[in-house]
Amino acid sequence: MKPRLLITRHLPDAVEARAARDYDATFSTDAAPVTADKLLEAASGHDGLLITGSDKMTAAVVERLPASVKIIATFSVGYEHIDVAACKARGIIATNTPDVLTDATADIALLLMLGASRRAYEGEQAVRTAAWKGWMPTQLLGIQVTGKRLGLYGMGRIGQATARRAKAFGMEIHYHNRRPIDPAIEKELGATYHATAESLLKVSDVLSLHAPAGPETNGFLNAERIELLPPKAIVVNTARGTLIDDDALISALKSGRLMAAGLDVFAGEPNIDPRYRSVTNSFLLPHLGSATLETRNAMGFRALDNLDRFFQGSEPGDRIA
Ligand code: DGY
Repeated sequence: MKPRLLITRHLPDAVEARAARDYDATFSTDAAPVTADKLLEAASGHDGLLITGSDKMTAAVVERLPASVKIIATFSVGYEHIDVAACKARGIIATNTPDVLTDATADIALLLMLGASRRAYEGEQAVRTAAWKGWMPTQLLGIQVTGKRLGLYGMGRIGQATARRAKAFGMEIHYHNRRPIDPAIEKELGATYHATAESLLKVSDVLSLHAPAGPETNGFLNAERIELLPPKAIVVNTARGTLIDDDALISALKSGRLMAAGLDVFAGEPNIDPRYRSVTNSFLLPHLGSATLETRNAMGFRALDNLDRFFQGSEPGDRIA
């Protein structure tokens, strides 16, 4: 008998086809994330769940999962939506999808950096609204990233991939991480380690956030820390919206203390702080970090690899609980 798998969101075709082949799979027909009550009801009789970051596996939800559920595989690298302790307490295995979205997310970090520094949003608007009156020597002057210092807050896989790309743009790489990275990679990137976030902020002409969400990073970029950034710095976020104090960032963008921000993630997505919509020096994307067909397929396959290993009696490679 094939294991019974509940898949909570519509996934790329190739992923669903593999799931349908190897599992007795139930596919969600909802376009939007399902509510906790609906998910709990749907989970009944299933051995495993393939969820996404929109499914909040809080302690209260995990406690109410049917006894049949032995594993939760999330279609994401981030797993702040899963209460790992609650899973452990119930003996439920949980897995994520690291590595496979590193390049796609680093690409988006560069896209945001360039889009913000070159005022791409304002330029786009000018063309679309026919406000563009032709080439002008002083129109929409941005900031060139070549020769600027990139500060990476968090230097895991995505931070390093972003650094590699930024180095090709002639940027000087600085980073803060819990510990310094492998000296060989540090050397390859020509990267300078900062033992404190504060020291990093002081040299970050462009600050790119790459730390996970959680109590340690919640509201990290607040008004006090923004003041440490060089004048007219640029802030890029492909990590999680909760790392930013929206009040502080919006006021620094409005006052011109910061040149611009490029944001792919927001607190409370998709209900972002509405003030962002009218801040013209912000370049905004709807959480597209991993949104390529190749990457989303790879994420699905990685989640299925983890499920396969578990149901074949082996240890899943990407175990988080
Ligand atoms: C993740 O995997 O955590 C991303 O945010 C989804 O793109």
